[in-house]
Amino acid sequence: MPDTPLIQTATRWVLEKYPQNSRHMTNSLEWVDRIGSGSAEAVRIATLTHDMERAFPGPDHPVWNGDEDYDYYVAHSNRSARIVGEWLREQNCAGDFVGAVESLIRVHEFGGWPEADLVQAADSLSFLDVNVDLFLGYAKSGKFRVDQVRAKFIYSHDRIRLPELQVIAKPMMDRALDRLNAL
Ligand SMILES: [Fe+2]
Ligand SMILES: [Fe+2]
Repeated sequence: MPDTPLIQTATRWVLEKYPQNSRHMTNSLEWVDRIGSGSAEAVRIATLTHDMERAFPGPDHPVWNGDEDYDYYVAHSNRSARIVGEWLREQNCAGDFVGAVESLIRVHEFGGWPEADLVQAADSLSFLDVNVDLFLGYAKSGKFRVDQVRAKFIYSHDRIRLPELQVIAKPMMDRALDRLNAL
């Protein structure tokens, strides 16, 4: 899908502020364009920026302990929504649009309605597409336990709410688990 000026500006923001994992962010946008072709700008912007709070350390920055922790995901999602919302207002985006993006980012770990399910699926598929090596590295280094990394791979597949997209994620999860078992 052609990039709008706002998508271009947001992509530059992501690349500049979040170089550690910008590949996952831009790859999530590629996934949402594949699975939700023609999606609204709010869906595409939410997908491209969904994890941005991790680029902005601060006292309210939630720390992930490696477990599938609902409270952590809520805090992470709400903080990302706030930071992206502030940035969109600085870009002079309309209030309705900002609100729509914030709502989608607030549930990007969970889904909840058709557009939110697309954002969540794109995040999950992108995780299994480009973040597996990062998490295998965490298991190797001992930063997180093997069982925590295994749970993350499984969760990334299981949480997808659209059955036809879970089918796409299944071989990706299986490959990641095989690689983890081979460590
Ligand atoms: Fe996230
Ligand atoms: Fe993500």
